[in-house]
Amino acid sequence: EPKYLKDYRPPAYWIDTIDLQFDLYEKEVIVTSFMKIQRNNEQAGEHTPLVLNCQDADILHVVAGDMVLLPGEYERGEDYFKLNRVPEQFTLEIKNRLTPQNNTSLEGLYKSSGTFCTQCEAEGFRKITCFSDRPDVMSRFSCIITADENKYPVLLSNGNLVKKGKLENNRHYVKWEDPFKKPSYLFALVAGDLVCIKDTFTTCSGREIDLHIYVEAENKDKCGHAMASLKQSMAWDEQRFGREYDLDLYQIVAVNDFNMGAMENKGLNVFNSKYVLARPETATDQDFMNIQGVIGHEYFHNWTGNRVTLQNWFQLSLKEGLTVFRDQEFTADLNSRAVKRISDVKNLRTLQFPEDAGPMSHPVRPESYIEMNNFYTMTVYEKGAEVIRMIHEILGREIFRKGMDLYFHRFDGRAVTTEDFIQTMEDAAGVDLSRFRLWYSQSGTPRVTVRRTYNEKRRQLTIKIAQTTPPDHNQQQKKALHIPIKFGLLDKNGKDITPPEHHLLELKSLEKEWVFDDIPSETVPSLFRGFSAPVIMDTDLTCEELSFLMAHDNDAFNRWDAAQQLYFREIDTLISGLQSHATPTVSSHVINALEKALKDPHMDRALMAKTITLPDENEIGEKYEIIDVDAIHSARQFLRQSIAKELEGLFMEIIDSGSAVDPKDLSHNAMAHRSLVNAALSYVAALESPQSQEIIYQHFISSGNMTREIFSLTLLCDMTSPFTGPALEQFYEKWHTDPLVMDKWFSVQAGATVPGTLDKIKSLCRHPDFTWKNPNRIRSLIGVFGMTNPFVFHQADGAGYQFFADKVIDLDKINPQITARMVSVFNRYKRYDARRRELMKNQLKRIHDVRGLSRDVYEIVSRALGE
Ligand code: ARG
Ligand code: ZN
Repeated sequence: EPKYLKDYRPPAYWIDTIDLQFDLYEKEVIVTSFMKIQRNNEQAGEHTPLVLNCQDADILHVVAGDMVLLPGEYERGEDYFKLNRVPEQFTLEIKNRLTPQNNTSLEGLYKSSGTFCTQCEAEGFRKITCFSDRPDVMSRFSCIITADENKYPVLLSNGNLVKKGKLENNRHYVKWEDPFKKPSYLFALVAGDLVCIKDTFTTCSGREIDLHIYVEAENKDKCGHAMASLKQSMAWDEQRFGREYDLDLYQIVAVNDFNMGAMENKGLNVFNSKYVLARPETATDQDFMNIQGVIGHEYFHNWTGNRVTLQNWFQLSLKEGLTVFRDQEFTADLNSRAVKRISDVKNLRTLQFPEDAGPMSHPVRPESYIEMNNFYTMTVYEKGAEVIRMIHEILGREIFRKGMDLYFHRFDGRAVTTEDFIQTMEDAAGVDLSRFRLWYSQSGTPRVTVRRTYNEKRRQLTIKIAQTTPPDHNQQQKKALHIPIKFGLLDKNGKDITPPEHHLLELKSLEKEWVFDDIPSETVPSLFRGFSAPVIMDTDLTCEELSFLMAHDNDAFNRWDAAQQLYFREIDTLISGLQSHATPTVSSHVINALEKALKDPHMDRALMAKTITLPDENEIGEKYEIIDVDAIHSARQFLRQSIAKELEGLFMEIIDSGSAVDPKDLSHNAMAHRSLVNAALSYVAALESPQSQEIIYQHFISSGNMTREIFSLTLLCDMTSPFTGPALEQFYEKWHTDPLVMDKWFSVQAGATVPGTLDKIKSLCRHPDFTWKNPNRIRSLIGVFGMTNPFVFHQADGAGYQFFADKVIDLDKINPQITARMVSVFNRYKRYDARRRELMKNQLKRIHDVRGLSRDVYEIVSRALGE
């Protein structure tokens, strides 16, 4: 039952308006929908039936025109509602019953901590009522909500509030109207007992917009940062993209139970509370950054997603890739561009590259899906954003902006495709992007090889760059992509001597050579500056040259990346050593390069922190055909300890300097300083001496903010120390009433690599504060264990796999969407040794054979097993 892009046809019927009424009760919700339907004469004739999507809805009453239809007069399938003959234009009224209190899938209408809320993207509206639930059917919505006034004083939907009043039996009602046509996936409803934090924003044309954030009363004091971020987003989109907000009201609601990060419903965003609530005592600096980014992301969707929407779900990256690019730029403009770029690339390399090399590999514009929710992937989002970034790089900032303006001008109010986007960019720039389009249709990560020759006599440098993309189930033969390579040449004193016309090399064939004249000897090339293309690069740079780039490249990203490459090489040597039982040693050039970085007075502290942080075990594993989890763990630990021993004095100095930072200060400098202190602490922890344990514990006790507190707790959990137990207890006592902080308490324990961790995780599943109904809690325990703790998850006896599969099977009955994400940890089973491969495959088969498995999990597991 997969759906294919090639089968796309425009809809047979349009639904011009839909007037909804929701009568909310404790035991049931009655939904009444009144639609004006119009045949699409380009697609359909008088014999074309009207088919609406309809799932789990219990239909009570149907009226077509002025005729009441009896159950035999319409056709009802498991997932559709059908009328065989309908006039060209008519009205249809459908009444149905829902039981949101039993909806644990968190899709459609459900309850979270007593609040009614909805999640319709991608195909959840059909779980609320019968509709043509596809993004190219755009309708004008109105929504009446009635409910008990004491239990649900706040009643919200999209657009503007146009009416409200009292009803009998202590009930009240409101009516909302959204003046903008929209697809059903952008519909939202919220009803609950929430407090409202208010502010306003004056747009560039002088309109005053009301900004409302709704949260549970106890979280009233944690909304300041989200509100400030919203105002920053609104101002930034005006300045950078000329986009003004369109309604008079912007509402955000924070809910505790949410499958994803947040949702851009028109005028009524619903957020995972994790991306709204923050105070320095409860949220880390990273949480603050994430909130700003996600608030921005959802706000930017108002233009890239809502005003210009999707023709079909295969185009998802049209809005997601573009909106991620926009939120990345927002964060980069308001904070440190280099720090942002480094974390995004690290994320891409650890999560998207493996996805693109495994059974779930798909092009940025997928060609088929069984369950659309499974395609909200790293590829669609993050690689999609890289594709937009490359266009930005190729066209330059001004022309790109010109293209964006043309895009909004052409397609405002319409449902379009990635092809429409590219075409618009070509038209605006007058360039040919025909080969570039392959980035949307061809899957896999290209490998780019760079080889140099230098002719001393002629002072001539030749750089040969070649690309290949390994074949996969999507394409047997891969074509050459259009790859932009930001480029520079540094002479031996570190001076940039790049010829002006060569700051961007464009590779459009399998192989190309560039020849540079009059180049002094010992010149070092810097390639893919700022990570200008999502590729795996293989260069012939020596360790000395990498150390040189680490110190001198004027591209901050490449300075960081040079350090990473040095670490990878060092760890690789250590791994081979371990495998042949040699006595390991760490080479002095790594220590020297690190020491130099730590003593560099010009280096920003946040960048220094990134530079001295070793790649994590998953990132290292990605470099190998067959991943040896034990060797990787030991090699990385050994390198960490050796560095700690050599540079202990410098790390201690950094840690001592940390006490000067005000724990409530959220400026870039304060956050940068904290990140550096944490990086230094992590080395000191590796010393495993009683004194170092004491230092970490002192740090924990005197923290004063969550960034310090949780990081020191993480370190304590990862060592065998008398302080670990007491610290965990103290933290629990202090924070057990705050669910977002408790998530962190579960995470630090799930991420530990000390002996006994698996048993600990098993017992945490039975902890009274653990629940299978809350996605954040599941992610913080089960997710962290499966995805970020390879050393324990892959323990050789397979006990980790067994436990994980047990949980997956149970959880699928509660929340298939989250379960499908979890089960993806088995996707890479072929990358491990024969024994582990077998053990994982057996678990996959076991899951596959479960009766009544969800579509979501079925799709992932059957792809993993290679069906
Ligand atoms: N459009 C939302 C965002 O990117 C994500 C919604 C995903 N929902 C889902 N069921 N897959 O902000
Ligand atoms: Zn999005």
